[in-house]
Parts: sequence; C-alpha cells; structure tokens
Amino acid sequence: MIDQKQCEIDIEKVENTKIHDVDFDKLDFGRKFTDHMFYCDFIDDEWQQPKIVPYQAMTIEPSARVLHYGQAVFEGMKAYKDTDGNAFLFRPEDNHRRINISAARLAIPEFPKDYFMKGLTTLIEMDKDWIKSGDGNSLYIRPFVFAIEPAISAAPAEAYRFMIICSPAKAYYTDKVRVIFAEEYSRSANGGVGFAKAAGNYAAQFYPTRLAQQKGYQQVIWTDANTHEYLEEAGTMNIFFRINDTLVTAPISDRILDGITRKSIIQLAEDNNIPVEVRRVKVSEIKEASRNGSLKEIFGTGTAAVISAISAFEHGNEVFEIPDMENAYADLLKKKLVNIQQNQSVDKYGWRYEI
Ligand code: COI
Repeated sequence: MIDQKQCEIDIEKVENTKIHDVDFDKLDFGRKFTDHMFYCDFIDDEWQQPKIVPYQAMTIEPSARVLHYGQAVFEGMKAYKDTDGNAFLFRPEDNHRRINISAARLAIPEFPKDYFMKGLTTLIEMDKDWIKSGDGNSLYIRPFVFAIEPAISAAPAEAYRFMIICSPAKAYYTDKVRVIFAEEYSRSANGGVGFAKAAGNYAAQFYPTRLAQQKGYQQVIWTDANTHEYLEEAGTMNIFFRINDTLVTAPISDRILDGITRKSIIQLAEDNNIPVEVRRVKVSEIKEASRNGSLKEIFGTGTAAVISAISAFEHGNEVFEIPDMENAYADLLKKKLVNIQQNQSVDKYGWRYEI
C-alpha cells in the first residue's frame, strides 16, 4: 500500500519515443498520444500504487460497470511551453477540484490531490518534449476515472481506474463556429448531471449535434430543458454574448459546467474594464439584439476550444449572421489569456503553474 505522504510512482519508461512519427503541424485534435500514461486503481476501498507506463491498450472485462452504466468522469486541461522551453499548467488544482465534484455526483471515490498533482507533473515532465511552444500549440491533458469492477447489477462499482493521457494539440475549432440554438433536445435538467464532466453528458449530445452538422452547423447551444427559452452552454464550451459593450453569460448551475476558461475570462474582462453580467440570457433577447444591431459578438470558452468566435446561429428556421467585429472582445481576451498561459505576460492571479 502506498504511503499517502510520499506518493511514490512506479515508473516504466518507453524504450523508443514515438515523437518522430508525429507531424506537429498537422494535428487532428485528440488522435495522437504521448509516450506515457499514468494510472492508479481503486481496489479494496483504497487507491493503490500509482504507475506511469508506456501508452498502450489495456484490458478490462466485458462486464466492467463503465461499459454498462457509464460510470465515468473526465477533465480537460493543457500544458504550454514558453520560448525558453519552460513548461506550465493552467490552474491545475481547479481541475482536481472539479473532477472530484463530478466523481461525487456519479458515486465515484475522490482521487487524492497529492496523487493527482504528483502523477500529473511527473507525467508531463517525462513527456515534456511533446509540448511545443508557439501560437496555438499545447499539450491537451485528459485525466479520467471509470468503473472497472466486473459486475452488471445496477449499482456503483467497488473498483475504479484513474488515468491521465496526453495528446499534442492545436486548435479544436479551426474556423469560426456556426451553431443552432436547441429547440427540441436537451443536454441537462434540474437536479441532473449537467454540471459534471460525466462521459454520458457528451454521448447524449452526439446525435442532436450530428443533426445540426447535417444542416451545416458545428455545435448546438443548449437551452434550458423546461422552456427552451434560456441559453445555457454549448457542451464543449461555455457561451458569452456581447451586447453593445457588455459581456453577458449564463450563471453556473446544476445544469451548466463551471468552466475554468469561463471564470478566467470573466475575471480578465472585469479587470480590463469590460462590463460583465452573469445572468440568464433569453433566446428572444439575443434574436432581438441581432436584429437591432446591438449583438456584437458571441463566443465560446473552453479548455480545448480556448475562445472560439461564433459567426452565425439558427433558431426557428431563421439564420442570424454575426458580422466580423474590429477589436473583438474574443480576440482581446484570448490574447490576454494565452499570454498568461504561455508565460508571455505577468500572471498576477497565480494561475500559471510551472512544471
Ligand atoms: C475540454 O475543453 O477540455 C473539453 O472537455 C471539451 C472536450 C469535449 C473536447
């Protein structure tokens, strides 16, 4: 059994790196993985010895509960490199906090902070060469935990695997994003799991998102399940609306993810004298603002998406185009955020975490 304080990790390194097989200029999001992965099993009521091993396929039984009941949650985070080769994470302790909030909702045991931080930083240190400096480059980090107990009665598992894998990344959305405001399907409901990064939240969006894609849109912006009158989030992103000079975004709730990029953008906007209103946003308000010209921008925020501008939305079979904006808030705030993440500016918030 591992000593909680020391949290030593068993390490097996690869014999040969795969890095030379990767074209870092042509990366499809989330398809290439670094040399190593971290894992730690929960068995007999305790987290066992953590391990870092070569990235590889693994075996779970067909009866593993995750395959039947979707008991799995995940996080998304990124590491960056500055031009001197120093590597940084961004607010990693917030990801640890949030994965445990998600885990609690799905009756998954909490993962200890010292295991999380040590596992994460050791893995990133080992695979540091996979982080490229420069505009748009990062290493996307995916911590996740899932039920491995071989048993198919509908009950929480007694055994879990916590893992971290890493994937070199460029932009998630390569272009401006066109969206549909949801009128029929819903992503989350009161008292549900919308606030959690539960694997099933994403699976449930795939079908309606595919329908949107068939109409030429990349994403759905979800509305509240009761009335479909209020705009909530986009599933891969929280959403901001700029009406005249004010930024408006929905408050977090049990239906909306507490995005780390979202809260960083609110802070950066306020500190740059951009008025921010955190309040419910009606579909009718945004349509009206688009018609009368006061809707200047819509953009999404997320770890993978960073800040992605939205160029059009559809609702009620009507399409609303959002003209390009000079001095867009999306560009200004993205620059401020990325400069902090990539060690190009002072970080008065203490968000940057050097590896
Ligand atoms: C992230 O931004 O990290 C997410 O989890 C979105 C993901 C579905 C790519």
